[in-house]
Amino acid sequence: MGKRRDYFVCNECGHEEAKWLGRCPECGSWNSFREMKAAGPAGGGAVGGAGGRAASGIRSAGSRASGGGRHSPGGHKKLEVMSIDQVQMADGVRLDTGIDEVNRVLGGGAMLGASALIGGEPGIGKSTLMLQLSASIRSQRPVLYISGEESLPQIRMRAERLGIVRPNSKGSPAPGAGGKAGAGTNNGGAAADEPGLGTKNGGAAGAAVQLVCESDLDRIMSVLREVKPQVVVVDSIQTLLSVDAGSVPGTVNQLKYGCHELIDWARETDAALFLVAHVTKEGAIAGPKVIEHMVDTVLYFEQAGSGLRIVRAVKNRHGSVDEIGLFTMEAEGLVQVPDAASFFLEQREAELPPGITAAPVYEGTRVLMVEIQALVVPAKSGFSRIYSDKIDNNRVSRIAAVLEKLLSVRFSDQDIYINVAGGIRLGEVGIELPLAMALYSARTGIPVPKQAALAGEISLAGEIRPTAHMQRRVRTAAEMGFTRFIGPRDVRAKGASSSAAGAGAAAGQGGTKIGGEVAGMKGTGTKNGAGGIAERVAGTKNGAGGSAAAGLPAGAVGAGFQRVQTLGDAVRYVFGQR
Ligand code: TYD
Ligand code: MG
Repeated sequence: MGKRRDYFVCNECGHEEAKWLGRCPECGSWNSFREMKAAGPAGGGAVGGAGGRAASGIRSAGSRASGGGRHSPGGHKKLEVMSIDQVQMADGVRLDTGIDEVNRVLGGGAMLGASALIGGEPGIGKSTLMLQLSASIRSQRPVLYISGEESLPQIRMRAERLGIVRPNSKGSPAPGAGGKAGAGTNNGGAAADEPGLGTKNGGAAGAAVQLVCESDLDRIMSVLREVKPQVVVVDSIQTLLSVDAGSVPGTVNQLKYGCHELIDWARETDAALFLVAHVTKEGAIAGPKVIEHMVDTVLYFEQAGSGLRIVRAVKNRHGSVDEIGLFTMEAEGLVQVPDAASFFLEQREAELPPGITAAPVYEGTRVLMVEIQALVVPAKSGFSRIYSDKIDNNRVSRIAAVLEKLLSVRFSDQDIYINVAGGIRLGEVGIELPLAMALYSARTGIPVPKQAALAGEISLAGEIRPTAHMQRRVRTAAEMGFTRFIGPRDVRAKGASSSAAGAGAAAGQGGTKIGGEVAGMKGTGTKNGAGGIAERVAGTKNGAGGSAAAGLPAGAVGAGFQRVQTLGDAVRYVFGQR
């Protein structure tokens, strides 16, 4: 390696450039480049030459710290190559965090030896959640909360507000504090199932959260070695400072170096590590993106409407991604949303206004009933614009185009506004059919029937594509009082159909095709005669009784399930048969 020149690093994503740029070509951040000196241990490329510690800490972005031994340049150990079937499974131990919604996004609890990043904008509630978690985690060993952001009295004040410690008691935690904390985090009576919920070992004083206010990495490491906590929260990683990694806190090198040391320590001592990171629009301090690749789990805190806070897993080596945890921010801290499935649903007595559709969406491992809202008005500026922050603009645009092309409803001279009640962001493909119906309803002024719930993906040709987890969607919708369900053929129904009652299964498979060449069983179901769609089968409305559950796997909620194969079918079924 030749002599390296000074270079520039993007504080948001760690991208390196030889010259200063106003905008990072990698992540698009503005004004995020900082100059780096080539010499010294902070140099990303100088790994080989620097001292052992710095070398193990600083890696260039992308080169992940592998799980194996330390890469100190001096001590080369002989590498062992192993056949995959001989690798021993390490039984990961999970800790119950005492907060169900957090357990859920972590994939069943906090993994010992693993690290989780909690990102989010300032003020969203990261510190609040971490303090609540620290108090409620069901662990016999100490929990250490390291704060470089707030002073001890500030943290104590928050703890009092959260009910973790009793107000005015000097220095010692209130007996039974854990129980109170539990009540705070576990929304209302139901979950406060045992006294001392927060600290399972009976709320003994020894189990209280240990605090330290420090941002110097060396001192933090020595506290860790001394206290040997099993759960560690570092709030926040942007305050970490180590002389080995340059002198300014919050730079990319500081962040990578500090986090790497902490993650290594957690892995070696089998502790669960939580790293809090601010997401900033400014490039002044490095963002959490820089260390996403180092940690096992990445959680992002987002704010939805009406005080709702959503914790979303975007990466999880020990669980599924796209899992979400739902909280509301109350006076006593973050409170779990008790009935997530129906939380986003508006209760309406009368008919739905035009433009609104109910949809069971699959988020992580559960189904949530949501309400998709569309408003269509003549374009203000000659060309159509789409205002949609909860559903991807491109998706809205595509569905509108398919509707326009196939059903001749004009959107290209309209402004389209899309919203989701409760403000949850939806990225799942199953929302396309309900979105299409909301758009159609908004444009035509015909409301979607109140009792209808829809799910399905739409192809560019207007086919309704099989969508996963239909059974669970139907069940959730039925539990919430929806009596009609419109969706595609179940992916899993294919296999199940052979065992299902013959005729019904055939109807489900044959489905509804337009254009006269009749599929399956003409007119078994509900024929409303609308424009030659006689071949609607497996009807629902007082249709041929037995065929109502057509094609559904045994045990599914079948009544009222209408399978549709094209967008045209769906429109005719939803709006024709009222
Ligand atoms: P905080 O957890 O400090 O956010 P972060 O660490 O992500 O920057 O605080 C979040 C906000 O929540 C803060 O503005 C105050 C508010 N809050 C409550 O409404 N209730 C509470 O019980 C607490 C502790 C905070
Ligand atoms: Mg904070």
